[in-house]
This record gives sequence, C-alpha cells and structure tokens, in this order.
Amino acid sequence: MAPTSNAGATPPFTDWMAQVQTRTEAALGRYLPGAETILHRLHDAMRYSALGGGKRVRPLLAFAAGQLSGASEEALDCVACAVEMIHVYSLVHDDMPCMDDDVLRRGRPTCHVEYDEPTALLVGDALQSRAFEILAAHPWPNGTQGLELVRLLAHGSGSCGMAGGQAIDLASVGKPLSQPELELMHALKTGALIRAAVLMGAQSGAPLAAADLQRLDAFAKRAGLLFQVVDDILDCTASTATLGKTAGKDAAAEKPTYVSLLGLDTARQLAEDLRRDALGALAEFGPRARRLTELADFITNRQF
Ligand code: IPE
Ligand code: IPE
Ligand code: MG
Ligand code: MG
Ligand code: MG
Repeated sequence: MAPTSNAGATPPFTDWMAQVQTRTEAALGRYLPGAETILHRLHDAMRYSALGGGKRVRPLLAFAAGQLSGASEEALDCVACAVEMIHVYSLVHDDMPCMDDDVLRRGRPTCHVEYDEPTALLVGDALQSRAFEILAAHPWPNGTQGLELVRLLAHGSGSCGMAGGQAIDLASVGKPLSQPELELMHALKTGALIRAAVLMGAQSGAPLAAADLQRLDAFAKRAGLLFQVVDDILDCTASTATLGKTAGKDAAAEKPTYVSLLGLDTARQLAEDLRRDALGALAEFGPRARRLTELADFITNRQF
C-alpha cells in the first residue's frame, strides 16, 4: 500500500508563495512605524502605501535565494522588507504628477491622491530611510555581512540603479530608443532592485562560493529585465481592473517600451528567451533552486 502521508513534502509553489506573502505583510507591519505614533499622517500614509497589496515579488525572490545559503527566516524577513520598502517608495514617487501621474496603484488611489503630493514625497523619503535603518539594526553575525547588504541595496536603488533608470525613463518620453538603450533603462529602473533582492537573499545566510553568486547574479539580471518586459506587455494587454493600475499608460504617455520597439509578438518572444536564459543560469543548482525557477515562470506568466 502506498503511503498516504504528505508530511515533509515540499509545498506547491502557490502555497509557498502565499506563506511568504503573508509573512512579509506581517513583518512589514512590525517594521513600519505605527500609525498611532507621532507624525501620525506620514506614518499612516507609509502604511497605506506598503501594506495590503502587491505581489511581493522582491521578497519572494529574497526568500527563494536565501534557501541556497540557509538564511534564517528572521534574516530574510529583514532583507525582504528592506527591499520591499525601497520598491514601494519607487512606486509612490513613480505615480506622482511629476513622473507618471497615475491615480491608481494596487487597486487603490495612489498615495498623492489619497493624501497629498508633499506627503507622497515624504513617504518615499521615509520608506527609503527606514529600509536602511532596519538593515543596519538587524543582529547580523558580523558587521561585514550587514554592511555588504546595505551596499547591495544602496547600489540597486541609487543613481546607478533604480533612480538612474527612472531618470532615463523620464528623459526618454517621446524618443525612440535603440534596443541597447531600452535594455539599459529597464535593467536599471526595475532590474537593479530585483537583482538586489536575489543577491541580498543569497547573502543573508552562510557565505556562498563565488561561482554560485555569479550564477545567481546571471539569473537575477535576466529575471529583472524579464520583469519589466512583461510589465510593458501587460500595460497594453491587460485591463485596469486586473492590473490594479491604469492600463495603456505607456502608449498614452509616449514611453519607449519593448512593445513600442519590437511589437507585441516579438516582445513576448523576448520574454520567453529571457525566461529560458534565467533558468539556464540556475541549472547547476538543481532542485535547490526550485523556488527561483518557479518564480521565473511566475514572472513570465503573471496576469498582473
Ligand atoms: C511594478 O512592480 C513596477 C515595476 C517595477 C514594473 P510590481 O508589478 O512588482 O508591483 P507590485 O509590487 O506587485 O504592486
Ligand atoms: C516603474 O516602471 C519602475 C519603478 C517604479 C522604479 P513603470 O512606470 O512601468 O511601473 P508601473 O507600470 O507604473 O507600475
Ligand atoms: Mg514609470
Ligand atoms: Mg509608472
Ligand atoms: Mg509599467
């Protein structure tokens, strides 16, 4: 008779994803300043923007990469929340009238619509500071590890990462970019933080061999670009209700995207090629990289 117990089996991807999302929501709730503390309105707006929505792809990537170095759940909570806070700050600023001027995010009014523009500006500023504060305050086994995590997040979010990519994005409105230029913009504005999430998760546990870190970095670069290529595709194929943000904004705002450059079919083919290359970079890890593999599939096939 075949055993009927499923004890010890690896949970299906959707169960694991829901667990990490729930865990991240709870950890963010603890790490964010309580809305009852002083500066009530700013703290309230920070919690409004960070809690109760989003796919939590960057925390999921951090947790998946952390499995390869045996990182503790507490360490991964910290790293996942730090990256997610930077991501939320980037969304709050991205939606402001001086950038993409969007009114809907995660199915709700954007921060500057729900509160006001100065508050949205400060929400981004304060989330950024809080991200580095929680990283610095975590009891890492040694200071070098904590500093390296701070460095990775700073690099991913700064002028050679997300902020730099956003600057290129804003300077490119109405301009046709070449494919290498578009790739650089996407790799920075979105890819850099995804790369940071993977590398920070991996470096939250025991030290990994340099070759393993290089494999993870190769995966992360492809997954980061893939993420924005799919975002470009969804902007012109999915509905506002499904996305939880206004559909069709890229064409309306004359943003250069993979769809405007290559057309929908070729953009979809590129996404498939990037997925394949991302998975190829993980091959040496075998089943240990199962969650990262599943996440590459999720990023490719997501509907929002
Ligand atoms: C949207 O990111 C902005 C981009 C970087 C493309 P996500 O699609 O991860 O947004 P949430 O966090 O799930 O809302
Ligand atoms: C945003 O890219 C990237 C960052 C927020 C850094 P988009 O402008 O395409 O993101 P959405 O579509 O508004 O989520
Ligand atoms: Mg934008
Ligand atoms: Mg936008
Ligand atoms: Mg977009």
